[in-house]
Amino acid sequence: MRHFIDTQDFTKTELVWLMDLIGLLKTADRDRALPPLLAGASLGMIFEEPSTRTRISFEVAMTKLGGHALYLKPGEIHLGVRESIKDSARVISRMVDAIEARTLKHATVTELARYANVPVINGLTDYNHPTQVLCDVFTMREHRPAGKPLEALKVAFIGDATNVCSSLMMICTQMGMEFVHCAPPRYQAPEAWQLIARANCVQSGGRFSVTDDPVQAVADADFIYTDLWWWVGQEAEIPERQAAFMPRYQVNDALLANAPPHAKFMHCLPASRGVEVTDAVMDGPRAIIYDQAENRLHAEKAILVAFVRPHLRLPSAKRSARHAHAIGAFLDDHQLDGAATPAAALEA
Ligand code: CP
Repeated sequence: MRHFIDTQDFTKTELVWLMDLIGLLKTADRDRALPPLLAGASLGMIFEEPSTRTRISFEVAMTKLGGHALYLKPGEIHLGVRESIKDSARVISRMVDAIEARTLKHATVTELARYANVPVINGLTDYNHPTQVLCDVFTMREHRPAGKPLEALKVAFIGDATNVCSSLMMICTQMGMEFVHCAPPRYQAPEAWQLIARANCVQSGGRFSVTDDPVQAVADADFIYTDLWWWVGQEAEIPERQAAFMPRYQVNDALLANAPPHAKFMHCLPASRGVEVTDAVMDGPRAIIYDQAENRLHAEKAILVAFVRPHLRLPSAKRSARHAHAIGAFLDDHQLDGAATPAAALEA
């Protein structure tokens, strides 16, 4: 059973395959001709934190593919509270065809995957956000300069070493791209992440660096990406983080003046306008943030089809007819209280 927990679990060939599938499903969807590839399938969506894009994209993706999604909002199920993650994983697996989980701790999603008998898809943890970055690289493919190969693209991530930063540095270096993380020294990617990114580069021919100089980072960049400077639970650190990042690391017109004219701006969203990025950049001509957000929907469709469809036992017409006949005959002949049904009584 394969799960989608970390892009590091996949080869470059597999990631390219997934991106090609995103493209096909996006085109079919735009033509309103998406096949019902997951007809009758169910997705359990576990959220320990709120979400707009991940929640909506997975739910709509399931509906569009002919399936169904259940939104299990924060605090709604016994996940590790009143019931072990192991038991929850085994029980939920008996009722749905796949699990999507946004968990506070990365260990929770890996524990779910360990015990689930259905594919588990990581919808963001404190370590990474693989569905986001698969969508992001697909979006870069769409918006790269004409004729420029993916391997020649440079991505500059300006800001805190967030879970999105972690995932983006992994997938970009897996794909053979150049990735630069730019932040004040205290907020730069931990050594453990850097080791993985550098090992990816040895395999892929990609390039990876870390700097505290944003002007240097955006020079020659094709894509400039940022994320929130603080998240839920880091409120006490806001003054310290604000002082470390502002104004030097804010993505604004002055910083973008140092980037090539074709460079695009990306953000996983939600954004704090006026903090890590200005309104002018968010609403300006370089921003591709809403294309990026829409692509979450197409990416989730591809992930669901790739991981869930192989496990669906799609019945033959003959098998469906046999079951329909057996159930129909039972209902025709028996009522709940054991009496003959009116139809059977009439015929008697
Ligand atoms: N980018 C992202 O995952 O957004 P949500 O938190 O709204 O799902």
